[in-house]
Amino acid sequence: MRLIAPLTALALALPALAQQHDPALHQQHMAGAPAPTTAKDARQAVKFPAQMREHTLANMRDHLLALQEIQSALSRADYDRAADVAESRLGMTSLTLHGAHESAKFMPKGMQDAGTAMHRSASRFAVVARDAAVTGDVRPAVGALSDVMGACVACHSGYRLQ
Ligand code: HEC
Repeated sequence: MRLIAPLTALALALPALAQQHDPALHQQHMAGAPAPTTAKDARQAVKFPAQMREHTLANMRDHLLALQEIQSALSRADYDRAADVAESRLGMTSLTLHGAHESAKFMPKGMQDAGTAMHRSASRFAVVARDAAVTGDVRPAVGALSDVMGACVACHSGYRLQ
C-alpha cells in the first residue's frame, strides 16, 4: 500500500493545479488593474476654503454635463448649440461665471495653467465646431473636443482637493 500516500497527495494537489491553469482565472489576473487600496495616489492635495470647495465641485459636475450636452449636439449636427455650450460653460466666457479668479488664488501654478488650458481649448472647440456647420465635417470638432477632455484629464491626474 505504498502507493496510497502519493496518490492521496496527488488527489489533494489536483484541484490546486487545475485552478492554476484555469485560463479564465489567468486572464482575470492579467486584465486586473491594481486594487484601488494598493494604488498610490500621487496627486497633489490642494486646500480650498470649504465653501469654495463645494462650489468648485458643483462646477465640475456641470463641466461633465456640458461635455455630454456637447456630444449630444454634435450627434445631431447642431454645431451652434455645441459651440454655445462649450463657450459659455467651459470656455473663456465661463471664467467670471465660475469665480475662477477667486479660486485661482488657492491653486498651485500648474493647476492654474491646467484651468487656463481647459478654458482656451473649449473656446477653440467653439470656433472649430462652428466651422463644421460650413464644411459639414464633424471630425475636426471631435478632435478639438478631445483636447478639451485632455485638459480635464491633465488636471485630474495632477491635483485633488483636500
Ligand atoms: C484646473 C483643474 C481641473 C480642471 C481643468 C478640471 N477639473 Fe474636474 N476636478 C478638479 C479637482 C481638483 C477635483 C476634485 C478631485 C478630488 O479631490 O479627488 C475635480 C473633480 C471633478 C468631478 C467630481 C465632482 C464631485 O462632485 O466630486 C467631476 C465630475 C469633474 N471634476 C469633471 C471635470 C470635467 C468634465 C472637466 C473638463 C471639462 C474638469 N473636471 C476639469 C480639477 C479640475
